[in-house]
Amino acid sequence: MKPTFYVTTPIYYVNDVPHIGHAYTTVAADVLARYKRLMGFDVYFLTGSDEHGQKVEKAATTAGETPLELADRVVKRFQALWERLGISHNDFIRTTQERHKKGVTQIFTDILEKGDIYLGEYEDWYCTPCETFWTETQLIEGRCPDCNRPVEKLKEESYFFRMSKYQEQLLAHIDANPDFIQPKSKRNEIISFVKEGLRDLSVSRTTFSWGIPVPGNEKHIIYVWFDALTNYITALGYPDETGNYGRYWPVDVHLIGKDILRFHAVYWPTFLMAAGLPLPKKVFAHGWWTVEGQKMSKSLQNVVEPNMLIDKYGVDAVRYFLLREVPFGLDGDFSHTALVQRINSDLANDIGNLLSRSTAMAVKYFDGVLPAPAELTEMDTALKTRTVEMISSVDRLMDEMAFSKALQAIWEVISAGNKYIDDAAPWTLAKDPAQRERLETVMYCLLESQRMVHSILSAFMPTTAAKALCSLGWKEEISRDSLVWGELSAGTTITKAEALFPRIEG
Ligand code: MSP
Repeated sequence: MKPTFYVTTPIYYVNDVPHIGHAYTTVAADVLARYKRLMGFDVYFLTGSDEHGQKVEKAATTAGETPLELADRVVKRFQALWERLGISHNDFIRTTQERHKKGVTQIFTDILEKGDIYLGEYEDWYCTPCETFWTETQLIEGRCPDCNRPVEKLKEESYFFRMSKYQEQLLAHIDANPDFIQPKSKRNEIISFVKEGLRDLSVSRTTFSWGIPVPGNEKHIIYVWFDALTNYITALGYPDETGNYGRYWPVDVHLIGKDILRFHAVYWPTFLMAAGLPLPKKVFAHGWWTVEGQKMSKSLQNVVEPNMLIDKYGVDAVRYFLLREVPFGLDGDFSHTALVQRINSDLANDIGNLLSRSTAMAVKYFDGVLPAPAELTEMDTALKTRTVEMISSVDRLMDEMAFSKALQAIWEVISAGNKYIDDAAPWTLAKDPAQRERLETVMYCLLESQRMVHSILSAFMPTTAAKALCSLGWKEEISRDSLVWGELSAGTTITKAEALFPRIEG
């Protein structure tokens, strides 16, 4: 049986249209999912939409729609974008689906019956855009410490989750599992937050109606974060523990943005503890994108629309840029100049040229029939070793979620390939019939190295890799077993590759 790998993205709010922030997590999760599939894992990749709560209800009222009409309309934009971006999710959960409501009701009931959810009264400051309650002391100059918007005082009867009870158990879990929260800096932030003391958490609202009612007391609506976080198990069929839930839970990694780490690393694990369910193996928080140095916001009208980027630069260039430009876990800045620079240098120049030059030579010198290599010289072995070692480095880096470093490791092999052509000078060898065997070896090494490069790149840039592998005559499935030197057979038909990425002028 194949080992399983379960990866999730956050479920996106439907009161907003998709932007590069959303695309970022989803592309990262997709690359990971594709990579693990390549490596022989039985992968389950989940994404979806967060459709309940006051925020969505308010947006619907403003738009003159019912919340469900709004959700139905906006969710299509997410789904269409994921299709264009080549996202290979196995499931898309909407929190308005029956399967989800059923699972949320169940877990809420379980915790209630256990006594870890109780009815009490709430009075605190609430930030509607963030759907978060704050205590007086957490406010910054009377405003929301996260988004700096005004907050309102709310007093209501509310169900509470006994989060305080799980403080020590959570700290012990974080301590015993150093990889549970990543990156490390974020882990430390969570540890300090938990050590300051966990308060019981309000997990129901009576001030609006768009959501899942509390079982047995329907004027209460389950808090949207309790509802949303549970998606990660309801999509697996929870409470039915036999099917996908039994197979894929606990999740291997929840990929999220840093702004929602507390929900994933404190609230969610303690809910699971209370319900007696296993905790996620890893929660990884990535950084935020600014745009041309500024915070991305509707009011600044600088929201970067992924569809527009795809129209202009192509899907794989966008996928590549997002993961290459900024180390996963750190903040980064998006700019068109940086994107064009990456396309021209890394894509058009380094990888595109290497493939078109080398396939053109195979056609010219060998009529497109891949020659067999003779004995490898030192320079051939160096290229081979670099290529082979890159495969294991990438494996390690992907486990660390170090996408940018993984791409750098791949690009080192591409640069080595470009240098290898210059050093081996096949055009000189071709002039001398006595060097025929040497030329055969050089061409083989060059093309085999790129076959391995494009095989592994298929996780990052599936369309480009498919084109490249097609001109390299590779028709087999890509797998761990094929990521081995020497798998491309002599006699394979090589065709001249068209430019993978046109240069962008201006
Ligand atoms: N619905 C909640 C998540 C519930 S998960 C159980 C939510 N949705 S969201 O649509 O507002 O945001 C989803 C993700 O987009 C978050 O991970 C957030 O970090 C990410 N981003 C939003 N803006 C971003 C940037 N400017 N840069 C990078 N990621 C950003 O939160």
